[in-house]
Amino acid sequence: MAGLFVTLEGPEGAGKSTNREYLAARLREAGCEVLMTREPGGTPLAERIRELLLTPSDEAMASDTELLLVFAARAQHLATVILPALARGCVVLCDRFTDATYAYQGGGRGLPFERIAQLESFVQGDVRPDLTLVFDLPIEVGLKRAAARGRLDRFEQEGSAFFGAVRAAYLRRAAETPQRYRVVDAGQSLEQVQRALDALLPELLERHHG
Ligand SMILES: Nc1ncnc2c1ncn2[C@@H]1O[C@H](COP(=O)(O)OP(=O)(O)O)[C@@H](O)[C@H]1O
Ligand SMILES: [Mg+2]
Repeated sequence: MAGLFVTLEGPEGAGKSTNREYLAARLREAGCEVLMTREPGGTPLAERIRELLLTPSDEAMASDTELLLVFAARAQHLATVILPALARGCVVLCDRFTDATYAYQGGGRGLPFERIAQLESFVQGDVRPDLTLVFDLPIEVGLKRAAARGRLDRFEQEGSAFFGAVRAAYLRRAAETPQRYRVVDAGQSLEQVQRALDALLPELLERHHG
């Protein structure tokens, strides 16, 4: 893989989208070709699956259905967007990826992590992010920021126990594989968060260009 695969993770309102834009601008200034994308979604077909996942519905979605839809969207996104961009040498900045599946469907919904790992191998082979930024913040702060954005989606409607489990799963994964993760304190001011990202830039560029 010539490119660099960077994922941004964390709960609703953590600042993933805001900081993805910021990082993309810094990386472009440094001469990188950057592709910004997101999950679930990132292709027209995968965005339709995203709608199924996020839209509240009278019919409760079984947890396994949710898990399979997430990976169905991911298979499409990888094949048509992420892998071609990495092959071209791009830095791919992806707002959520498989760590979100471990956090939401594993931590939040309580699905076995081994089942997620099986699907991860099936859909991704040995493709994993090169670096994952976990934007961590107290759940009340994230919920407040997300609520300020308007109507809550199917996940945002969950309660604080769900989000506590999501946060714990992210932090546990980051602690288990520290080489791959950087935890960013997203409860700081945006300016402070962006200073923390500036400090990560040399490492990103070094990993990209070797
Ligand atoms: N560090 C921060 N401090 C205060 N507000 C923030 C911070 N980071 C992001 N925000 C604001 O919180 C809201 C959610 O940010 P966003 O980037 O959309 O989060 P996410 O993509 O993780 O859900 C936006 O209105 C954004 O401007
Ligand atoms: Mg976002």
